[in-house]
Amino acid sequence: MDFRTALKHGISQLRAAHVPSDTLAAELLLLHATNRERSYLYSHPEAELTADEAAAYQNLLDRRISGAPVQHLTGKQEFWGLSFEVTPDVLIPRPETEHLIEVALDRLTLRELRAGRPNKNDGSGLLIADIGTGSGCIAIALAKELRQAQFIALDISPPALTVAQRNATRHSVFDRIQFLESNLFSVSSCSPLATRHSPLLFDLIVSNPPYIGRREASSLPREVRDHEPELALYGGEEGYEFYADLIAQSATQLKPGGLLVLELGHDSLPAVQPLLEAPLWTNVSVTNDLAGIPRIIAAQRSQIRHMLD
Ligand SMILES: C[S@@+](CC[C@H](N)C(=O)[O-])C[C@H]1O[C@@H](n2cnc3c(N)ncnc32)[C@H](O)[C@@H]1O
Repeated sequence: MDFRTALKHGISQLRAAHVPSDTLAAELLLLHATNRERSYLYSHPEAELTADEAAAYQNLLDRRISGAPVQHLTGKQEFWGLSFEVTPDVLIPRPETEHLIEVALDRLTLRELRAGRPNKNDGSGLLIADIGTGSGCIAIALAKELRQAQFIALDISPPALTVAQRNATRHSVFDRIQFLESNLFSVSSCSPLATRHSPLLFDLIVSNPPYIGRREASSLPREVRDHEPELALYGGEEGYEFYADLIAQSATQLKPGGLLVLELGHDSLPAVQPLLEAPLWTNVSVTNDLAGIPRIIAAQRSQIRHMLD
């Protein structure tokens, strides 16, 4: 069987099984099974698959038809122009999370401009926390952009942290990101966050927290519900419950004037916005995703020392 025929057969099998994005899925699985680049597929459509390649391709198609996400079959997902290893232990990075990177970078620039400081854009002197790092995609994308910044990436899931560490090594930023197991900001007793006499204060806290409501579980696509980690998906019965603790703890972990940038669930804004009120928070902004859904909320910790300090 040649590449053109294999692709056609793959698409029709996936389509018959009502698999979404059938053409892209068949193409990615064919490339993975044959260890080829996309350019090869279109420049050599008549090249023959070996028997082993054809068998591996069929096996991948069968697993996709039974519900496994393409990214679990290929082991990777692109985010912010970088290739990330993904396993069933981490959330598959989503394109809308790239808005969080854009907003974080914009808000850091704006903060420097407002303060009348020359913006060096390299993150020197900045300490950044990523809460619920998963694959590490947010911390790693920011580390690639802010080449002098230091990071602490926290997650409650040890296997997720192992994947994130491998991704940091793959993208040569491992030396600037410390990965720690935690429940929000509470880390195990031997960690630097807990052993300091005063809390470690951050310039920027970013998070894409679990925000799906358990009551929505039955309406999720099976690829998500049955294959992605529950810890990464559900934020409580309604979905927005996680934000209250995250925002309250962030207020005590940010420097005065520090920034908080959070991803929102599709209906989280009305529950989350009231948690970011004056006098503790200022300069609140909401950014929509490409579908027009309020997706990112950002706020600045007030400069004034507050009773919480
Ligand atoms: C929605 S995923 C985000 C993963 C990654 N940051 C991304 O954007 O693709 C949420 C992450 O938060 C982690 N998590 C859930 N509860 C947590 C908690 N109480 N403390 C720290 N991390 C938690 C999960 O293990 C998961 O990796």
